[in-house]
Amino acid sequence: MTDAGRHPRITIHTLSEVADIKGYVGSFEVKIVKKARYVDEKACTACGECAKVCPVVRPDEFNIGLSSRRAIYSPFPQAVPSAYVLNPQECLGNNPVVCSKCLEACEKKCIDFHMSDQTLDVRVGTIVVATGLAPHDPRPLDEYGYTRFENVLTSLEFERLVNAGGPTQGQLVRPTDRRHPQSVGFIQCVGSRSARRGKAYCSNICCMNTVKSTLVLKEHYPDMAVKVFYIDIRAFGKGFEDLYTRSRRQGVHYVRGLPGHVEALPDGRLRVAVENTASGSLEYYELDMLVLATGIEPAPSTQKLQEMLGLQLSTDGFFLEAHPKLQPVDAATRGIFYAGCAEGPKDIRESVTQASAAAVRAIRLMQADRISGEAITSEIDPALCKACGKCAEVCPYNAITVDTKKKTPAQVAKAACSGCGTCAAECAFGAITMHHFTDVQIGDQIDTLLDHDPAHKILTFACNWCSYAGADYAGVSRLQYPPNVRLIRTMCSGRVDEKFIWQGFRNGAPVILVSGCHIGDCHYIDANHWTVKRVEKVHKKMEKRGIRPERLQLEWISAAEGVRFAEVMARMEQLRRSVTQQEIADTVAILNK
Ligand code: FES
Repeated sequence: MTDAGRHPRITIHTLSEVADIKGYVGSFEVKIVKKARYVDEKACTACGECAKVCPVVRPDEFNIGLSSRRAIYSPFPQAVPSAYVLNPQECLGNNPVVCSKCLEACEKKCIDFHMSDQTLDVRVGTIVVATGLAPHDPRPLDEYGYTRFENVLTSLEFERLVNAGGPTQGQLVRPTDRRHPQSVGFIQCVGSRSARRGKAYCSNICCMNTVKSTLVLKEHYPDMAVKVFYIDIRAFGKGFEDLYTRSRRQGVHYVRGLPGHVEALPDGRLRVAVENTASGSLEYYELDMLVLATGIEPAPSTQKLQEMLGLQLSTDGFFLEAHPKLQPVDAATRGIFYAGCAEGPKDIRESVTQASAAAVRAIRLMQADRISGEAITSEIDPALCKACGKCAEVCPYNAITVDTKKKTPAQVAKAACSGCGTCAAECAFGAITMHHFTDVQIGDQIDTLLDHDPAHKILTFACNWCSYAGADYAGVSRLQYPPNVRLIRTMCSGRVDEKFIWQGFRNGAPVILVSGCHIGDCHYIDANHWTVKRVEKVHKKMEKRGIRPERLQLEWISAAEGVRFAEVMARMEQLRRSVTQQEIADTVAILNK
């Protein structure tokens, strides 16, 4: 951090918040609100004289409230810049002028009560999202008596207590009597691996953090009794199994089972009841201190940033990468990358690896000087555009701008367009051409595929990234599926225009299948949500027109689901057989009216 702070080409905006982001790769416009520090960060030498005279005492957030700070303070010892900050809301009377002691104490005259927040507009080419994490809060569930017993700590509080730079200079003491504990227990998976008790996912770092903590304890206090209550230990990183083995060898007692009950004894010790699933017995332990290995959660700013950038979140609430294997640091929106726990729980090593990868991916784009766009992009015909704004509404990348009040035709930022085709499918005026997947090209495919004996065909629209690949997988896996399936590939299921469906039925298709990636897996953020809405709309229209809605099916098939593809097609064949010649003829007649 210090190196980054000194680098001539890196600007660090501290005490700042991103208020808005617009634009696209190569040209993002970022609005930053820089909060007033009330201390000149260039002049401040962090001598601390101001804090010495400050009469206000507040809990120190960096030490999780285990120590205190003043209203004017240094956020943490290695803070960059190395300068103090004043929180005027914490001053006496909520106004620094009331007391002004810090102002008088500062010889360098760095303190300025008249500073105000600034708004900065910054233009950048790429963005790396590194919003970090939030530790799980065990208070709402009061797991293991965290809010009732002072000697129950979280792993973060424990870390501050054993840290040489922490409030006790690394001396482990019991909060109740400040005496050195003789026995410490760690409870794993607090807030992780249980949807009922927190989050369903594994937080990845807690097992090894506990193993590390047990080794620290054994190194400093060899006689201390250390117990770990766990479901299973996940030591899958390089050298991690060795650490775990070393911890066991040094006498740390690992008990397979999570405590069911914790109670305080009169002397402040804690009595833990646990069912040991290895021995099958109910065991009781008396411990001086309990440490909850709390899990990690997405940072609180995640939702806001996701909305600002139009990014996708996984079901766990972390940012979703463009592809878990091939683009693990890329967002689905070009020019945006992820680093660290913004994308999922990870340890320092993984975070550094991902951050390095993200930096290189960003640099690679930036140093090219020019950005080559996708060939598959949409284009708007200004003569046909009525500036209704639908295309801008459905675009997952905010690539389309339109002024609906002034009725100026919509415009596509080519660099931002990824070519899903949802805009073209939703445009009611035929004003949008999706290059390489134009209405004419797809319409011709429909005509050709249903040209001969349409009553025996299963017309299928498959998105390029999932369903089409699923069909391919079924093929290479030599899976049997009806030979009368006729596939039309679109980049996304969002491209399947309502008129393609009507054209298919008008040409005598007995059944039509629209298929794409599972919800949440769409290659174009959330474009397939529009597919769902469109198919529902068509179903209603079919019903109104007296056409059986089941004849139009929507299925999600991923690239790995070759078997599912074959099964869906077998079902479609059954459905096709249920459609009579008369039904097809009636549909054609209705649609040609
Ligand atoms: Fe498959 Fe959008 S890419 S549904």
